[in-house]
Order: sequence, then structure tokens, then C-alpha cells
Amino acid sequence: LPAEEFQQRLLTWFDKHGRHDLPWQSPRSAYRVWVSEIMLQQTQVATVIPYFERFMARFPTLEALATAPQDDVLHHWTGLGYYARARNLHKAAQVAMETNGGELPTASVDALMALPGIGRSTAGAIIAQSTGQQAAILDGNVKRSLTRLHAVTGWPGKPAVERSLWVLADYFTPTTRLADYTQAVMDFGATLCKRSKPDCVICPFNDVCRAYAQGEPQRYPESKPK
Ligand code: ADE
Repeated sequence: LPAEEFQQRLLTWFDKHGRHDLPWQSPRSAYRVWVSEIMLQQTQVATVIPYFERFMARFPTLEALATAPQDDVLHHWTGLGYYARARNLHKAAQVAMETNGGELPTASVDALMALPGIGRSTAGAIIAQSTGQQAAILDGNVKRSLTRLHAVTGWPGKPAVERSLWVLADYFTPTTRLADYTQAVMDFGATLCKRSKPDCVICPFNDVCRAYAQGEPQRYPESKPK
């Protein structure tokens, strides 16, 4: 499938069926997108939204977060779990204040990845959504969609498999509408190309999906070998 064709079909689907009213979509800033992406790493959108709103009311800027007591930050995380995320967020805000003039370093994926708690996919998600630079993401949703579309075998946690998925993710990432595209691939995986019972009958890619052609799309991605 040519990249342009993939992007066009996905964005047409997103315009109709994607999420366009998420609180971090407007106003959109690197800080707000970053906080949302950290919250969304292990938590679903519906759960995150009220936490995000309370967090932004209390810590509206990177500086407000950096200068807050850690207890206060953790208090706003109570119930979300995986508290290392909150400690890394707090620490990263302080590092950005000290080393980058109070801004998140969004010049490159590598610069963002130097901050605690930000891996390659999260860095790509922040950059694509807040600056519009071309950066790919590869979270669990995207891994699932790509393994199905291309019938990629092997456990996606295996370095060789993950590398080939990054190649696909890079190949499909457009040079325009980066924020929409990034939200679209996540929405597509979360709401249509679901882990069990994917909605293949209404999928815009069912004519080209190799897993669908094989008849058992939910066999992808393969699980971790025992
Ligand atoms: N998971 C990580 N980032 C997300 C986002 N922006 N929307 C939905 N799910 C996500």
C-alpha cells in the first residue's frame, strides 16, 4: 500500500470517526501534549480526561509543575497508578527549566528522549502533535494495526520485529497534518483495530489487510514466547 494512499484513507476515517474534542487538542501546546501522553501511557483516554483537567488547573505551565512540591504532583496523580510516571514528569519539568530555558526541548526526538520518562514513541507523539514536525509513533495500538495490515509475525517486543515495525511506522508517517495523523493512528488502533473483535467489516483497509485476508486478524500481534 503506497504511503499516500494509507494516509488518505486513514485521515478520511479520522475526520468522520476520530476523536476531535480531547482537552489536550485545544489549546495545543508541547507542555499539554506531553502531560497527556505520559498519562495515556498506561491509562485509557476516558480515565485520563478528568485527571488531565485537574492537573492543568493546578499546574498550568511547565514552570508551575517544576516549582511545585513533589507531594502535590503525586497527589494529582492519585488513582492513575504507575507513580514513576509522575515523578519522572516532575523531574523532567525541572530539567527543562534548568537546561532549556523553561521550554520542552521539542527540536528533535533525541532531545526529548533525553528527559526522564520519554521513550521514542512518546517523543514522536509529542513532536508530531505539538510542532507538526514529521515524527513517527509506535505505541501498542500502532504495533497492533501494523502487524495486522502487513501480517508481521513474531512478538513485537523482540528487537528485530520492533525495528521492522519502526520502518513501517516511519514509511507511513506523512509530512502534513501530523497532529491529526498521530491522533488518527491511535484512535484507529484503540477503537477499530481492537485487540479482540476488530471491526474489520467497516475498516477502510480491509481490502489490503493481510491479516484479514488470512481470516484471523486477532492472531496478530503474536504474544511473547514462553
Ligand atoms: N495513547 C497515547 N496517546 C494517545 C492519544 N493522544 N489518544 C489516544 N490514545 C493515546
